[in-house]
Amino acid sequence: FTPYLLIAATAYLLGSIPFGYILVRMFRKEDIREKGSGNIGATNVVRSGAKGLGALTFLLDALKGYVAVVAGRWIMMRFDATSTGLGHAAALAALCALIGHIWTVWLGFKGGKGVATAFGLFVALAPWAAWLSLATFILVVAVTRYVSLASIAGAFFIPVYALLLPHGQRSPWVLAMLFVIPAVVILKHHQNIARLLHGTEYRFGGSKASGA
Ligand code: G3P
Repeated sequence: FTPYLLIAATAYLLGSIPFGYILVRMFRKEDIREKGSGNIGATNVVRSGAKGLGALTFLLDALKGYVAVVAGRWIMMRFDATSTGLGHAAALAALCALIGHIWTVWLGFKGGKGVATAFGLFVALAPWAAWLSLATFILVVAVTRYVSLASIAGAFFIPVYALLLPHGQRSPWVLAMLFVIPAVVILKHHQNIARLLHGTEYRFGGSKASGA
């Protein structure tokens, strides 16, 4: 028996909980996928007019990412408590939680873009890089009012911050996740990137563009 299957399944199932969809369905009796960008993430929940639910979506989506990594390490502790084992567990859990969020089994494998979930799992994997990335996100939103651009910038700088900041011994798999996870998040923004390039992306506090 391998703990890896258990870690992967636990992380995937945690990541797959579509909090944005559930909260909007529960409290507003609406399908968030039929609103705004159609995304189930916090940004689109706010855009749909539910600021509080949007904030809660961000918190819960981030929390499930964090919990997935912590749970992965916890499971591995029972099998192989060496730093190599724990590094493998954290990296696997992080990737599976992100996959769970983006390709959730509960919504026909069409989930979100992974921004809040990635933030949560990086709080567990590389905390200082995660907090600096959040600061970058806030700065870019404040300056440009484009949440998607801020998400892309926040993702892009994760490996930069993680490599530049002092850190302890890091497993090669965790190192790989510092690149793989932001790359997946950025690729999931391909429609946003197209809209940004065409000047039609939704801008908070600005004119509402088509296709947002
Ligand atoms: O959290 C995802 C964000 O970066 C973009 O969301 O709804 O504008 O596609 P949305």
